[in-house]
Amino acid sequence: MFNRNLEAAINDQIKHELYSAYLYLSMSAWAESNNMPGAAKWLGKQAAEEQEHAMKFYGYVHDRGGKVVLQAIPQPPAEWTSLLDVFEQVKEHEAKVTGLINRLYEIAVKENDYAGQVMLQWFISEQVEEEKNAATIVDALRHVGTQGAALFMVDRWLGER
Ligand SMILES: [Fe+2]
Ligand SMILES: [Fe+2]
Repeated sequence: MFNRNLEAAINDQIKHELYSAYLYLSMSAWAESNNMPGAAKWLGKQAAEEQEHAMKFYGYVHDRGGKVVLQAIPQPPAEWTSLLDVFEQVKEHEAKVTGLINRLYEIAVKENDYAGQVMLQWFISEQVEEEKNAATIVDALRHVGTQGAALFMVDRWLGER
């Protein structure tokens, strides 16, 4: 039997992952409009990854015989002051998501849902990567500032993703 508390929490998480996709797509559009095609590409790929995360949870609910109930996704922001501002918010957002994944794991432990724990371990490792990547980019952008040739080079680097 699929634990009902975990089922409800995973349905919430599907919304959070889709909001992440929405947020990063909005950031990608902002970067595109502000002549940073490399950052736009990086953020677009990140948005696609977040949709994959949502679909992993979606598939898991069905695998366990549960019911997916999609929720409303909030409107993301559309304006940022700089690319550093964008990536500081990516970093902050990923830290928040890590907290949500940890909370899901706590529920799976409390409810003795072992299969759920195994599924969530993938996300725990993924969040380590996500936080590390965001921190690396924030550090690079803090060094280069908000404009000029160095920012152009960072944008090129982001576009290599
Ligand atoms: Fe995610
Ligand atoms: Fe993420």
